[in-house]
Amino acid sequence: MRIGIIGCGNIAHQIARRLKVHAVYDIQREKCRDLDAKICNDLEELIGESDLIVEAASPDAVKEYAMKIIEAGKSMVIMSIGGLVNREFRDALFSRAREKGTRIYLPSGAIGGIDLIKTAKLGGLRKVTLRTIKNSHTLGYQVSERTLIFKGKASEAIEKFPKSVNVSVLLSIVSGMDIDVEVYADPQVKENIHEIYVEGDFGTAEIRVRNKPSPDNPKTSYLAALSPVYLLSSLEDVVRMGV
Ligand SMILES: NC(=O)c1ccc[n+]([C@@H]2O[C@H](COP(=O)([O-])OP(=O)(O)OC[C@H]3O[C@@H](n4cnc5c(N)ncnc54)[C@H](O)[C@@H]3O)[C@@H](O)[C@H]2O)c1
Repeated sequence: MRIGIIGCGNIAHQIARRLKVHAVYDIQREKCRDLDAKICNDLEELIGESDLIVEAASPDAVKEYAMKIIEAGKSMVIMSIGGLVNREFRDALFSRAREKGTRIYLPSGAIGGIDLIKTAKLGGLRKVTLRTIKNSHTLGYQVSERTLIFKGKASEAIEKFPKSVNVSVLLSIVSGMDIDVEVYADPQVKENIHEIYVEGDFGTAEIRVRNKPSPDNPKTSYLAALSPVYLLSSLEDVVRMGV
């Protein structure tokens, strides 16, 4: 399978370190230079060169390219899940993928617990809350102690922090509800912390992930960069573990 990637940043480099990447495309062509892959001039060329395309660029890239990729009959992995926050766009994209027989993969990224939420939803979910705690500098805030800087729904959170709460949109899509989100800025914390609280007929769950940054890019959690690598390398697995 020929893997193509949009966006030659941290996630693309983590993927290319572990898997053979056939083609890449980035609006900043120089970002792709050290990758051992064909550098494409535009999206159309990338689509032609790939069987499956990984979006690792930006929410705007998802809005601009995803439908074109699906229309071309290619499957895709979406990392900038914030680009799917608009329900009408998301439903149209998913339903077109069904018609075309292609696949859309949304990796777990920087969190765990997606398997639990999918299963628990069958019995009825009541509430899902995400509390994200990040370094204040990373979030662009100057505070002297841990401070609540946002409380609201995931759909508002992703507008305010388009790079920091992709996982809130994933949790919303999986749970089927616009989940509650709290974002804290902390001058001391070095890790990207995500705490997920789930309530439903199954009981309750609390999932806490303290993400270390990627070795070569402190802005991206290491787990988030590894997540598409696992997904891509397990597509043909005969034995499936977890949900
Ligand atoms: N789902 C998750 O848990 C999760 C976790 C981390 C990052 N992300 C998201 O994944 C994406 C990639 O993350 P990263 O750390 O590799 O980012 P990065 O900033 O290191 O790299 C992004 C690259 O994409 C390119 N790019 C941006 N817009 C583009 C466009 N429209 N067309 C082509 N190229 C474009 C940039 O030039 C850059 O080289 C980001 O949107 C980030 O928010 C998701």
